[in-house]
Amino acid sequence: MWDKLFKGDTTPEKAAENPLYQAVNRDRLPRHTAIIMDGNGRWAEGRGLLRTAGHTAGVSALKQTLKVAIDLGLPALTVYAFSTENWKRPHNEVDFLMRLFTDQLAKEIDEMDADGVRLRFLGRVDDLAPALREQARAAEARTKDNTGVCFSIAMNYGGQDELVRATQALAADVAAGRIAPGDIDAAAIEARLDTAGLPPVDLVIRTSGDLRLSNFLLWQAAYAEFWFTDTNWPDFTPAHFVEALRDYGRRERRFGGLKK
Ligand code: IPE
Ligand code: IPE
Ligand code: MG
Repeated sequence: MWDKLFKGDTTPEKAAENPLYQAVNRDRLPRHTAIIMDGNGRWAEGRGLLRTAGHTAGVSALKQTLKVAIDLGLPALTVYAFSTENWKRPHNEVDFLMRLFTDQLAKEIDEMDADGVRLRFLGRVDDLAPALREQARAAEARTKDNTGVCFSIAMNYGGQDELVRATQALAADVAAGRIAPGDIDAAAIEARLDTAGLPPVDLVIRTSGDLRLSNFLLWQAAYAEFWFTDTNWPDFTPAHFVEALRDYGRRERRFGGLKK
């Protein structure tokens, strides 16, 4: 049913009329939603296909998910595309993924820009192939003044690696006398993370049934709500996303305090 309702309406007025979104409490939307797009391989294997076919199929789920974020005016959406641990996979799968990132970014950048999306890449982007790195940096520069959804793609990203790099940056600032050790606080750390300036993660979604963070946004998800589904990423629809947002809107968040 969702495909009849979901048109990827790009004005808030049109989106507001979409019955798919009516279940969502717009006063209680997450400021920052982070998605671990997992299960592409299992999706493919279940169909007797190569794992890479699962990654290709996952692209349309991501496009639809971004459209929902645009329609609902979510401030920030971050997706986990490739972890620092994913280099352990066979060469051909890694190569395929890198090519998929390049191809899709080239294909989608105009529409994302037109939709007001601000693109950002998290992780060791500088260690990727020069062409992909340049493409990522160019996409960031091109969309930096857009005012819509801040869409971050974690690519060659690991939460521990990010904290290591932030720590190195802090140590360099201490050594240069720019900051005193006693002045290092949470804000000083946050300012040196790849996500600097983004709101804390309110909601983490993971598809495909595994219940773990896999080194994603370790600092940023400190008080996140979690939403898991057994659905593999390529089968994740706007209806699933809306269900996650609706569940999130019903959660009571206490942040260590007491029930209000
Ligand atoms: C997630 O799907 C995509 C990436 C990690 C790049 P997987 O490739 O991990 O799929 P499963 O978990 O093996 O099914
Ligand atoms: C996490 O999925 C990384 C991405 C979705 C890009 P993995 O499939 O790599 O995680 P593990 O290995 O199951 O923990
Ligand atoms: Mg996986």
